[in-house]
Amino acid sequence: MNIVLARSAGFCFGVKRAVNMAFAAAEQAGPICSLGPLIHSPQLVERLQGEGVRVVASVAEMTGDETVIIRSHGIRREEEQQLRQRQLPLVDATCPFVKKAQEYAGLLGEQGYTVVIVGEQEHPEVQGIVSYACSDSVYVVADVAGARQVPSGLRLGLVAQTTQAYENFRAIAMELLGRCKELRVFNTICDATAVRQNEASELAASVDRMLVIGGHNSANTNRLARICSDIQPRTFHIETASEIDPAWLVGAASVGITAGASTPEWIIREVVEKLQQLTK
Ligand code: F3S
Repeated sequence: MNIVLARSAGFCFGVKRAVNMAFAAAEQAGPICSLGPLIHSPQLVERLQGEGVRVVASVAEMTGDETVIIRSHGIRREEEQQLRQRQLPLVDATCPFVKKAQEYAGLLGEQGYTVVIVGEQEHPEVQGIVSYACSDSVYVVADVAGARQVPSGLRLGLVAQTTQAYENFRAIAMELLGRCKELRVFNTICDATAVRQNEASELAASVDRMLVIGGHNSANTNRLARICSDIQPRTFHIETASEIDPAWLVGAASVGITAGASTPEWIIREVVEKLQQLTK
């Protein structure tokens, strides 16, 4: 059986950077905590816990003698202020692309624009960007219908959650353009998501089975699995090699594998090895 692994499978630049920073800090800086799980991979979070990186839900839960690692999604401005007030040592692993989105939102807010963020309201990255906009007048819109709720005649500044699809961002920009006094746009989309999704769609179209590896709690892995199963109905979303059911492979001449941006390399390797054993 032919096993094809997507070239882009696994960690994106920002996640790889955050994980490396966390392991390095755990080795050098003594006790560490992260505000929320560092990435959406329960296996990696567990490994980090073994190295002394504990997960806390709020600044109030921090003991005061720990170094704090900020995850790649970033945190809210108020949380950053609380950390600085408590003078806790910080390792800032916010992805530079997320940082850019936060900075542009801040700049637009300062210059008096009503800030519009294209993204998912509940996502921690978006909540962070909202907080950096430092303005009472911020809208989070998920789609064109949402953009129609933004009042007309305003000076608008537009940014995006980094993982948004470019087409959605463009359609929202066009909708807003027709109804505002001024529109300033910063395209803060990072192409790591699109690269993974395009490659996964092409692979799903050329194989008999598709495996998508990543946390069941990872939005980007769930999206990859949905994209693949629309093309190849025999797509299976797994978190680890132990979830592979050999029955899935019966009659398959080829299996494609991709993985979300927060899936560690060792988990991908274990899946490939398990498939190789099963198809010997
Ligand atoms: Fe950063 Fe893009 Fe990954 S914003 S965390 S490199 S998906």
